[in-house]
Amino acid sequence: MATMRLDKLLCDLGLGSRREVRDWIRAGRVSIDGTPVRSPELKLDPASCSVSLDGKALRYQVDHYYMMDKPVGVITATEDPAQKTVLDLLPPELQRLGLFPVGRLDKDTSGLLILTNDGDFSHRVTAPKAGVEKRYLAEVDGIPDADDVSAFAAGLILGDGTKCLPAGLECLGGGRCIVTVQEGKYHQVKRMLASRGKPVLSLRRLSIGALELDETLGPGGIRELDQQELCTVFLDRKPKTKA
Ligand code: URA
Repeated sequence: MATMRLDKLLCDLGLGSRREVRDWIRAGRVSIDGTPVRSPELKLDPASCSVSLDGKALRYQVDHYYMMDKPVGVITATEDPAQKTVLDLLPPELQRLGLFPVGRLDKDTSGLLILTNDGDFSHRVTAPKAGVEKRYLAEVDGIPDADDVSAFAAGLILGDGTKCLPAGLECLGGGRCIVTVQEGKYHQVKRMLASRGKPVLSLRRLSIGALELDETLGPGGIRELDQQELCTVFLDRKPKTKA
């Protein structure tokens, strides 16, 4: 791995601002391989030495992945002059990591949102060719029925001529249903259901691939994803059955 400055390394970990970590280093709180160092400019290879702060070993991590239960009322953006964004909900130590949302949920949609600083990962999740399934719980005005299920499975054509890939629709009774799509066109689920005369009243994303929303997080809650969970993003929730 390439060498990097000690102060940058500590910042990348989200431990503090550049100014704070420099103060800690100058105060002798940071050690490399057990020896205190006092120079923020010192260059090191994080893969080949052990860095500690106040005697506690630090694990250098370049890429970060978090799951958020996005609440209704905030926009999926990194910044906005007028509206609250999902990044505004992060605690200060996470705001320093350069995270951005993977894909987009509408302001009035809640549920599973992945935040990362890994552009390749984001692309692999959102690229239409990747075919990663996203599952939504929708409440609609009307009662979805077997005809809607068939129309979704055949691939809907929206009012403006947009062709949708075949999608899943599961009726849960009353106006509740589960929609599974493999793409992420603009307002896709709302437009699909509206095209069947069932306008969406509320929408919540439940899963991406086989990664399920952690319902214990609560609105605006966030937690780190471990490597195993990350892999599940690229798996199907249910193994596909042969035709
Ligand atoms: N489809 C929509 O219509 N809205 C979302 O937020 C996500 C999928």
